[in-house]
This record gives sequence, structure tokens and C-alpha cells, in this order.
Amino acid sequence: MSTVKSIFVLIGFHTGLIISLGFNQTPEPTACVLLILQQDVVGLTLAFQDLSRVDLCFGIHNGNAQLVDCLDSDREALIDFKEGLKDPENRLSSWRGNNCCQGEGISCDNKTRDVIAIDLHNPFPSSDPNYSRYALGGKISPSLIKLNYLRHLDLSLNGFSGIPIPEFFQSLEKLQYLNLADAGFGGKIPPNLGNISALQYFNASNNCLTVDNLEWMTSLTSLKYLALNGVDLSSSGSEWVGALNRLSHLTELHLQFCDLIDSNSFLNFVNHLL
Ligand SMILES: *[C@@H]1O[C@H](CO)[C@@H](O)[C@H](O)[C@H]1NC(C)=O
Ligand SMILES: *[C@@H]1O[C@H](CO)[C@@H](O)[C@H](O)[C@H]1NC(C)=O
Ligand SMILES: *[C@@H]1O[C@H](CO)[C@@H](O)[C@H](O)[C@H]1NC(C)=O
Ligand SMILES: *[C@@H]1O[C@H](CO)[C@@H](O)[C@H](O)[C@H]1NC(C)=O
Repeated sequence: MSTVKSIFVLIGFHTGLIISLGFNQTPEPTACVLLILQQDVVGLTLAFQDLSRVDLCFGIHNGNAQLVDCLDSDREALIDFKEGLKDPENRLSSWRGNNCCQGEGISCDNKTRDVIAIDLHNPFPSSDPNYSRYALGGKISPSLIKLNYLRHLDLSLNGFSGIPIPEFFQSLEKLQYLNLADAGFGGKIPPNLGNISALQYFNASNNCLTVDNLEWMTSLTSLKYLALNGVDLSSSGSEWVGALNRLSHLTELHLQFCDLIDSNSFLNFVNHLL
């Protein structure tokens, strides 16, 4: 097959139907229409003029995020993760088939096909009567750490019934965004989360969490946003001030109702920020 200059236009619809119109320039112009249903080329393939060129129409789907097929290992990891969760409203019903990149809340890298984001925040605000029905719960499977390129994890506004934040989150080395707010986590925030050195956003507000100290946070050197509203910091005395002072990229800090017994330190810290 000689080099073919092709122009393809992808037209997507909410139903998952994608129509691609393509025009090949050489050797003689060929136009083809692909109907792609649910990722796979199961629909019609019409080639005008030259049927032997139909194969040129395949492969174009690599250009579109929705159409990237996910890696087998990522798909298996996500299926394990899903099996651990309680999902009464079947929010994750789209997590099936070969292409996990199309599952609700999942994003993949267009080129490498790695899963890079999982966003499972409750679609309803906590004031909505449907909030608790749509809250996910259950267990968080360690299979998540097989997603080697996960950058974004949002489990906020769910109901994990007091389970601790998993220690294995420390192995999500590429994680830049971790939102665990209002998700029903309990116990101590595992200090080994300090190993997620790429973390830029960490929100653990409004759970039932405590910490012994915040020393471990000093290794979160990329941290820009930190929200620990409602986390019991009373055991850390005034030590947390020094720890947070060392986060040189921090631009936003939320520490409401944190049992900060040493309010003088707090004022010093505010002065430092100003
Ligand atoms: C993938 O490519 C599409 C189209 O170019 C773009 O809109 C989307 O943001 C990309 N997704 C990611 C995760 O890079
Ligand atoms: C809440 O759930 C009910 C029953 O499924 C549904 O009729 C209603 O539209 C939902 N509310 C919203 C805001 O979607
Ligand atoms: C990182 O993980 C190692 C091994 O689990 C642990 O010994 C170390 O304390 C952790 N570092 C931080 C900053 O939590
Ligand atoms: C934390 O995340 C929740 C859920 O996304 C969001 O509503 C809240 O504004 C964030 N920040 C704080 C300080 O809670």
C-alpha cells in the first residue's frame, strides 16, 4: 500500500454511534463511510468506487479518546476494583466489554491507552434526596495499583462506611489529584501517603479522619491544594505549622474545624502565608 493522504471526519452521537467520513487522495480519490458502534467496527462499511480500499478506513479510530481500546491489564484491574464496590444504582454498568476507556468516569491516554483518570464522585450533591442511593461503598481493591499511570482519582461524595483510606494508595506513584472528600472514610490518614510525591491536589475533607502529625506531608513536595476540613489534628500540637510551612508550592489550604488547639501557631501560619 503506498502512502495515502487521508482526511477523516469523525461525527459522534450520544448513543455511541460514530460516523466517520473519509476521503483518500491517492492514487485515485476514494471516499468511505464507517459506522462504528460501541467502539468496535461492527457497523456498515461503505466504500465508494473502490472496495479494495476499505481497509484504509480502519484504524482511524485511534485519533479519538472515546475510541481507544484499553489495555487488558488495566481492564482486569478495573473489573477487580468494581467487584469490591457496592453500587446500588448500578452507576458502573458501563464498565463492561473490551473497552474500559469508555466506562463511566474513566479516561485513558489517547496514545498509550493507559487508564489515567477515575472520577467516581457522586453525581448528586449531598442535599439531593438521591445522594445516598447513588453513593458507592464497599471495599477498595488493591488492584487499583496495577493502573500504573493513574493521575487522577476522585472518590468524593460517596459512602465507604468508616473504612480507612487504603495504605496501598502510596503506590499510585503518578497520582497528581486525590479527592476523598465526604466519602465516609475513617481512622488515621496513612502517613505513607507521603510517598505520592507527584500529588498536587489532596482533599480529605469531611470524613471522620485523624492524624498523629503531618510530618509525612513534607515529602509531598508538589502539593498545591490541601483540604483537611474536619480532620482531627489535635494530636499534632503545633507541629503541623512547621510541616505545612515546608510545602513551598502550596497555594490553597482548607483547615476548618480541625481541633487546632494551638491557635497562636495558626495565626503565625496565616502571617507566614500573607
Ligand atoms: C484525546 O484526544 C481528544 C481529541 O483530540 C481530546 O479532546 C482529548 O482531550 C484527549 N484526551 C486525553 C485524555 O488526552
Ligand atoms: C431521583 O430519583 C428519582 C427516582 O429514580 C427520579 O425520578 C428523580 O428524577 C431523581 N432526581 C434527580 C434530581 O435526578
Ligand atoms: C514510603 O514507603 C516506605 C515503604 O513502605 C516507607 O518506609 C516510608 O516511610 C514511606 N515514606 C513516606 C514519606 O511515607
Ligand atoms: C473537596 O472536594 C469536595 C468534593 O469534590 C468539594 O465539594 C470541596 O469544595 C473540596 N474542597 C474542600 C475544602 O472541601
